[in-house]
Amino acid sequence: MTPSPRLDVEVGGIRLKNPVILAAGTFGYGAEYAAPAGAARLGAVVAKSITPFPRPGNPPPRVAEMPAGMLNSVGLENPGLEGFLRDELPRLARLGPPVLASIAGETVRDYLYLARGLDAAPGLAGMEVNVSCPNLARGRIPFGSQPRPLFRVVEAVRSATRLPVWVKLSPNVTSIVPLARAAKEAGADALCLINTLTGLAIDIERRRPALGAVFGGLSGPAIKPVALRMVWEVAEALDLPLVGMGGIMDARDALEFVMAGATAVAVGTATFVNPRAAVEVLDGIVRYLKAWGLESVSELVGAAHPGAADRRPRRGAREPRGLEPAEEGDGG
Ligand SMILES: Cc1cc2nc3c(=O)[nH]c(=O)nc-3n(C[C@H](O)[C@H](O)[C@H](O)COP(=O)(O)O)c2cc1C
Repeated sequence: MTPSPRLDVEVGGIRLKNPVILAAGTFGYGAEYAAPAGAARLGAVVAKSITPFPRPGNPPPRVAEMPAGMLNSVGLENPGLEGFLRDELPRLARLGPPVLASIAGETVRDYLYLARGLDAAPGLAGMEVNVSCPNLARGRIPFGSQPRPLFRVVEAVRSATRLPVWVKLSPNVTSIVPLARAAKEAGADALCLINTLTGLAIDIERRRPALGAVFGGLSGPAIKPVALRMVWEVAEALDLPLVGMGGIMDARDALEFVMAGATAVAVGTATFVNPRAAVEVLDGIVRYLKAWGLESVSELVGAAHPGAADRRPRRGAREPRGLEPAEEGDGG
């Protein structure tokens, strides 16, 4: 019998038992949604973004279904730092996997305040810096879209905490690499990409925007090619662990991100459709590794890039069994 493939990965100072993460804001904390099925088996969970003080979020409707995804304008509804530390973090920590807090703000001071306030929080493995929330960024300092402001925010967070700092990038930019580079130079331990793409839907019966906030963030399968392209570009340009996300619905999607250069992947919108989506992604990755006789998921990171050609299956290599259903108990 072949030994089980290794699934553990190191992402910017955090060791994960496997590369599958729950994406920020898509499984909720608190009473909104129950933790997705099997969350204890996952590599990490990222909490919904918090701001220094509670926010009520945007006016309804906040979600519109799209042909291949969803448009949301939740608007960072959250309980603020204090509420997060008191009520949400303990609950998330009980799930088992490492927990990252996600921080968002309108000024560098906001981020500093949050990073300081979270630095010594029991049960917190790291911080994800959300500079890309389209609902907050409009008319504000463009942390997500200009290298200088991004550098300043990441530098401030880095100076305020000893915890690992992951920076989540916005896809709403002309060129992603200068932003990735600014985050790295400011001390990011890993980069997460991508957040949602800003979009609009119009309700033709009401002759109004479908969302109360007018614009929303597009997520789900529609954005996967854009996300993959950005992961690829950043992987080519920089040497830093990447967490890939955007439209991952199954293990095939996740493996595409890994081969584009992501060390880990995050599942977001898919959880709304299927609460087991993330664990099913994990099981599918294990099946793929076994089918191809691979020893470790790390072997696949960046495997689709030109320089990785020697690690690709040779012509005439055994046909894999692919991703057919696994036996009971597969997975990490
Ligand atoms: C309803 C909803 C809420 C979200 N909230 C957050 C958030 O609080 N912070 C954040 O960084 N990203 C947030 N995101 C973005 C996701 O974490 C993810 O980056 C994005 O949706 C792309 O992945 P997906 O296509 O798998 O959903 C949210 C996405 C959705 C759909």
